[in-house]
Amino acid sequence: MEAQYAVILAAGAGTRMKSDRAKVTHELCGKPMINWVIDAVKNSGIENIIVVTGYQEEQVKACIKENVEFVSQKEQLGTGHAVMQARTLLQGKKGSCLILYGDTPLITSRTLKQIIHEHKENRNSMTVLTAFFDNPAGYGRILRDPSGNVTGIVEHRDATSEQLQIKEVNPGFYCFDIDCLLKSLDGLSNQNNQNEYYLTDTLSIVLKNGGKVGTTTLNCTDEMMGINDRVQLAWAQKVLNRRIIEDHMRNGVTFLNPDSCIVEYNVEIGRDTVIYPSTILEGNTKIGRNCTIGPNSKITDTIIGNYVTVLNSVTIESTIGDKTNVGPFAYLRPGSQIGKNVKIGDFVEVKKSVIGDDTKVSHLTYIGDAEIGENVNVGCGVVTVNYDGQKKHKTIVGDNSFIGCNVNLVAPVEVKADSFIAAGSTITEEVPEYSLAIARCRQTIIKDWVIRKGRLRGKNLRSNFTEVVIK
Ligand code: UD1
Ligand code: CA
Repeated sequence: MEAQYAVILAAGAGTRMKSDRAKVTHELCGKPMINWVIDAVKNSGIENIIVVTGYQEEQVKACIKENVEFVSQKEQLGTGHAVMQARTLLQGKKGSCLILYGDTPLITSRTLKQIIHEHKENRNSMTVLTAFFDNPAGYGRILRDPSGNVTGIVEHRDATSEQLQIKEVNPGFYCFDIDCLLKSLDGLSNQNNQNEYYLTDTLSIVLKNGGKVGTTTLNCTDEMMGINDRVQLAWAQKVLNRRIIEDHMRNGVTFLNPDSCIVEYNVEIGRDTVIYPSTILEGNTKIGRNCTIGPNSKITDTIIGNYVTVLNSVTIESTIGDKTNVGPFAYLRPGSQIGKNVKIGDFVEVKKSVIGDDTKVSHLTYIGDAEIGENVNVGCGVVTVNYDGQKKHKTIVGDNSFIGCNVNLVAPVEVKADSFIAAGSTITEEVPEYSLAIARCRQTIIKDWVIRKGRLRGKNLRSNFTEVVIK
């Protein structure tokens, strides 16, 4: 049933993107354009995939981890010329070959399977997908004779004003019998507006060679959209994002305003989790069940347990245990391992640190390069002083300790378990278990200093003390 081969064309620069990068390397929902096409082809059951590269071919190849064969098109002389580069790999092979472009990331495996099915079912030499576009500008137009039989494809730039009225377009998905494809490539010329070898011209050549060409027409025009510029890129991103979010919603995740969120393709979310508006979930993020994420949060490569809340926060390459609350306005930088039932409150930054279960870091604190034990209370305004201007140093705080407000822990330093640090202390030496550390100046009281210096500020008090002041 399946076509055995597919050729994906990805050698062009994509001039209309106005980019320093090859068009097909631009990402949509965290996946380069070319990989969306490759995945659709793979999921349609095709195992032998040939990718034609040319412009910035090393960068294009670097995007592709799948097992595909690459062929190089040194000069980009057109889509037909690109397919010619795969000739040696296809020569002598039997069966059918799908041909598609690397700039059509919205295509689904279901549609590809349908083209292959039509091709086999009707014993065609070539099968072309067609679609009706309200605005067909830029696309090749499908030409038919008066009885409706397809006769050719004319490129937009070569079309007569009459042909430009045709709304049936060529979205660029073809299935060929391999023999017939190779034979028709021999017949291509570059006598056209762009002096290119057009793959589209193979249609009329197949007919001339006595082959049978079939078309299959689909309504869903989303899938067939080719991406040539940034406006189309944004539009395709929106479609893919919507597809991803709808999959999550069908799996039991609530999105309060799906259109305001961005979810990349690899993200996993457990059921009964609620995603509030303006939340971005990126990379290899995994979120458990019954969590509340957002609003206004950006979660990148973060593993989150169950019953977790992340409110107005940014997390990168971190882990967060069950029943932990993060935010509002917290920042978890790479390497933060936050335990279960932890509180990371407002304006707390954590970097490359382990924070044990049941610990609270409630407000205005920086924890960097630290190991904080379980059931620790970190007061407001605590700073791990981890950097001496040259090197980073480590802070260790044992279980059940209490770090008062506005404490500096000057690393390298260790606070042993079950100890207390008085508020305002600057700790530079190890604090033993079960002890209290106070590291600040004792308070001095200078009695009546305010009166003697004439510095009274209260209006009523000022007249009461006039005499004293004058004395
Ligand atoms: C092409 C079709 C057009 C169709 C449209 C659908 C041709 C001649 N035209 O036009 O009928 O409506 O796609 O989106 O096929 N490429 C190469 N080597 C080349 C030229 C292009 O590999 O020498 C690759 C590009 O990287 C790209 C794909 O082929 O991924 C399509 O090329 P593009 O220039 O975008 O073709 P369109 O003008 O869109
Ligand atoms: Ca295109």
